[in-house]
Amino acid sequence: MDLGLTGKAAIVTGGSRGVGRAIAASLLREGARVMISARDPKRLQATRAVLEKETSGEVRAHAADLGSDADAKALIGATLKAFGRLEILVNNAATVMPADFAALTEERWMQVFEQKLNGYVRCCRHAIPPMKGRGWGRIVNLSGLAARETTGRTIPVGVNNIAVLSLTKSLAWALAPDHILVNAVVPYIIDTDIQDETMQRFAALTGRPEADIRRERVAELAVGRMGRPEEVADVVTFLASERSSYVTGAAWHVDGGASRGI
Ligand SMILES: NC(=O)c1ccc[n+]([C@@H]2O[C@H](COP(=O)([O-])OP(=O)(O)OC[C@H]3O[C@@H](n4cnc5c(N)ncnc54)[C@H](OP(=O)(O)O)[C@@H]3O)[C@@H](O)[C@H]2O)c1
Repeated sequence: MDLGLTGKAAIVTGGSRGVGRAIAASLLREGARVMISARDPKRLQATRAVLEKETSGEVRAHAADLGSDADAKALIGATLKAFGRLEILVNNAATVMPADFAALTEERWMQVFEQKLNGYVRCCRHAIPPMKGRGWGRIVNLSGLAARETTGRTIPVGVNNIAVLSLTKSLAWALAPDHILVNAVVPYIIDTDIQDETMQRFAALTGRPEADIRRERVAELAVGRMGRPEEVADVVTFLASERSSYVTGAAWHVDGGASRGI
């Protein structure tokens, strides 16, 4: 299938590792030009060099903390300067969050939203005008299964991720007249740093061995194994492409069958 991504200009936030890096690699292999972004400039530049070598694609890097509106604006500006256009935004950057609701301070609760939801909102606000200018756009927002299935372990994560789904659906309706499609991807238990940190936090919180927690999580999955970042990237790449032209406001699960609802 020709995805029609050749020459399209894309931003992948949180593109320095994990799911974001896999998304950037996939878009580059399909011929898109990609700007990756994250806070740590050293790791970001190292990833940029690896992606360039692996894919021979046109990849740039711009360090930004998306907890800051000025940084989000500068990221969109740097992309327009580098590529002269912007058609695809993949909102993916997020940090690991504490699980114990009772121990959450006001400041930490606000930080949770600053890092993910508000970062996504900032990037959307600055990316939408150039997409409207081209009369074509794709926004893909990484949410997470805690948005839809709760255990009480992950309250800030769930509230943050359900807000990402609401943002996705609302923007899909607002932007459809401008031929900008907005969708979400809902991952669960993907083998990345954030997943490792989450398992370690649960182990510390409950005083149980990390290996036991890992086994229990895998047992929740119909496929019986953790997901790979590339498996999320494939779905995101389709949603970012020409071929997804009748899909908007949707939330596609990439969760190994963990979600049991029909
Ligand atoms: N892995 C899973 O099982 C899983 C499950 C459900 C949902 N998700 C969602 O999938 C997405 C990707 O997760 P992942 O597992 O790939 O995470 P990851 O391995 O921890 O990578 C996170 C990326 O985001 C960047 N980042 C974090 N905070 C940032 C900020 N304030 N500004 C800019 N960049 C920032 C990080 O780089 P720096 O630290 O250098 O900034 C890194 O590049 C996230 O939205 C996550 O919530 C993942």
